[in-house]
Amino acid sequence: MTGTRSDTRPESRFETTSFGFREVAREDKQGLVRDVFDRSARRYDLMNDLMSLGIHRVWKDIVITRASPRPGERLIDVAGGTGDLARAFLDRAKTRSPRGGGAPAEAVVADINYEMMRAGRRRGEAQGLDWVCANAEHLPFADASADCVIIGFGIRNVTDRAAALSEMRRVLKPGGRFLCLEFSRPVNRAIGRVYDAWSFNAIPELGRLIAKDRDSYQYLVESIRRFPHQEAFAAEMEAAGFSNVKVQNLSGGIAALHTGWTL
Ligand SMILES: C[S@@+](CC[C@H](N)C(=O)[O-])C[C@H]1O[C@@H](n2cnc3c(N)ncnc32)[C@H](O)[C@@H]1O
Repeated sequence: MTGTRSDTRPESRFETTSFGFREVAREDKQGLVRDVFDRSARRYDLMNDLMSLGIHRVWKDIVITRASPRPGERLIDVAGGTGDLARAFLDRAKTRSPRGGGAPAEAVVADINYEMMRAGRRRGEAQGLDWVCANAEHLPFADASADCVIIGFGIRNVTDRAAALSEMRRVLKPGGRFLCLEFSRPVNRAIGRVYDAWSFNAIPELGRLIAKDRDSYQYLVESIRRFPHQEAFAAEMEAAGFSNVKVQNLSGGIAALHTGWTL
């Protein structure tokens, strides 16, 4: 009988979680996600531009404007991948520096995937940018050590979202800001239909043609559909202790920016 006291296997063996539309053992998900990004790392930036028709750049720009980086601040870019958001944070902070003075901002990209970070580093180093191989569920950073935490298109890949949210809150200073950019639910049917057609047909096909890997892109599309809708995720943030949680729909809810603060 599964899950009884007489069974000596750990409980987690019986717990499942979504990996796209498949249910997999919880303990297997992280390895599967790592494989997806190992395979897609080399073409990740190009595929992002193709899949989103470049719109991810506009969304990321909105995130950075809301993050409002300042010289001397420290960002942790969780699941930061190739480091787009971290670089944009540093660049924006520089423009806020009066006559180039003051301590520069710092950013650390924390990601489970070494290949993604390697692809990011090939784009060239930036002053104040650091890379750490780490799981969002167990961040290797001190309590209250960041002014800002951003996670962009990463949270839906995490196995234990509550643990990751709690970690991201822990590392933020009091008054720190948290921003989560993620695919979400279109707010009207017309947008939803166009988006479904594009994502279930074009994206896996682009993956096959450009990255020679249909399966990884099929996973990306499916994982988006398994992620909670805007209000449900806002409630998870509140449960993790974030204050003043707000949601901004982007491109009609195809993506959403959730923001919160630590007190
Ligand atoms: C879609 S990419 C997003 C990269 C980048 N933030 C961006 O916006 O372009 C998702 C990233 O999440 C990372 N990731 C997935 N699960 C993770 C976890 N549990 N902890 C840290 N990073 C994770 C993957 O390795 C991958 O680099």
